[in-house]
Amino acid sequence: MVSVLFVCLGNICRSPTAEGIFANMCIKSGIEVAVLVDSAGTGGWHVGELADPRSRAEAQRRGLMLQSRSRKIRSQDFQDFDLILAMDQSNLRNILRLAETEADKARVHLLRDFDPESPPGSDVPDPYYGGKNGFSEVFDICERACQGLLAEVQRRLSH
Ligand code: 4NP
Repeated sequence: MVSVLFVCLGNICRSPTAEGIFANMCIKSGIEVAVLVDSAGTGGWHVGELADPRSRAEAQRRGLMLQSRSRKIRSQDFQDFDLILAMDQSNLRNILRLAETEADKARVHLLRDFDPESPPGSDVPDPYYGGKNGFSEVFDICERACQGLLAEVQRRLSH
């Protein structure tokens, strides 16, 4: 079993998008029974809400339904998840602040660091206050990074 948690600020735009994309990739690869996929936010303003309508519309346009509800990251997540994937550098810092041990810290990565085409340290840009194009861009970025993440998860499952 490998468990993966995507984390952004509000858990209504970027991380639910990545969660939906990655869960679908796991199904298509036939590994969904061995992979736990979830998402969370470092902030709690939108707890209980579905993903932003703009994220859901973009996903639907690509044939995906986003159904997750926003929740806030909690310290138990460091016990429950093998890979904790931050969408940007600010999320990364906030997640690392919650880590209690070096082992906790070692589980945390930037999502885009799994995309070999992205320069190290790249952010998934926050689309919340931007235009509609931002949501399409976020989807494409998450899709490329999740492809690399899938390879890593498959590698871990085969060990
Ligand atoms: P997300 O986008 O972190 O990708 O879910 C945001 C959602 C909500 C807010 C900021 C970013 N907000 O300030 O409420």
